[in-house]
Amino acid sequence: MSKLTLDDLNVEGKRILVRVDFNVPQDDAGHITDDTRIRAALPTLNDLLDRGASLVLMSHLGRPRGAVHEGLRLNAIRDRLEQLLGRSVQKVDDCVGSEVLAAARALKPGEVLLLENLRFHAEEEQNDPDFARSLAQLGDYYVNDAFGAAHRAHASTEGVAHYLKAAACRLLAKEIEVLGNALDNPERPFVAILGGAKVADKIGVIKNLLSKVDVLIIGGGMGWTFLKAKGLEVGDSLLDEGRIGLAAELM
Ligand code: 3PG
Repeated sequence: MSKLTLDDLNVEGKRILVRVDFNVPQDDAGHITDDTRIRAALPTLNDLLDRGASLVLMSHLGRPRGAVHEGLRLNAIRDRLEQLLGRSVQKVDDCVGSEVLAAARALKPGEVLLLENLRFHAEEEQNDPDFARSLAQLGDYYVNDAFGAAHRAHASTEGVAHYLKAAACRLLAKEIEVLGNALDNPERPFVAILGGAKVADKIGVIKNLLSKVDVLIIGGGMGWTFLKAKGLEVGDSLLDEGRIGLAAELM
């Protein structure tokens, strides 16, 4: 792979700023209903800890749009991560500022600090350079394992990489490798199955895949918009009225 990966970094004694995607579903009482994304980050986190690094973890949760939402704090995620890692995880109530910086600088090798929801600051989604610089101060190196958020050019996924040496983590590297091989040199017949709720986010992916695959199967919430475009009656709230024409064109 032409990108730096964890294997290219000597992380011993270093503080590593890790972008993870802990955007996990929670019920009304704030209990995590599916911790797959937290589990998916464990190989990277354990690898870095075993190699003598300390970790500053950052993630978004939901779409609070630049304001603090008590229900979107990362406290339950900290608790689950502690169980899964089998070691204590500290947490701060913000992701930038002097207290956060002090907590990050106090970390010793093997210790883990989880920041508060990045999207409590509008600057995260705006990819604000000052905000990205503040995040960058928290680590010696930046590594990204947030495959699910890597399509967003936000301060924690794109901006911060301008200020620190940056590398792809295990999950991200694996996804790039598998996807790269599948797209550049596929075995045929090449069938792609695409799911998800948001048609708008997938237009680029769908167009790109259509030029490569023999068959494209669309499922998940997006499917309703395509079925509607075929003239079927659908009643799902995930129907994207504005993209029925586009769905017809793509088919
Ligand atoms: C996801 O769940 O799709 C990712 O975490 C990205 O979240 P977003 O669509 O709110 O940016």
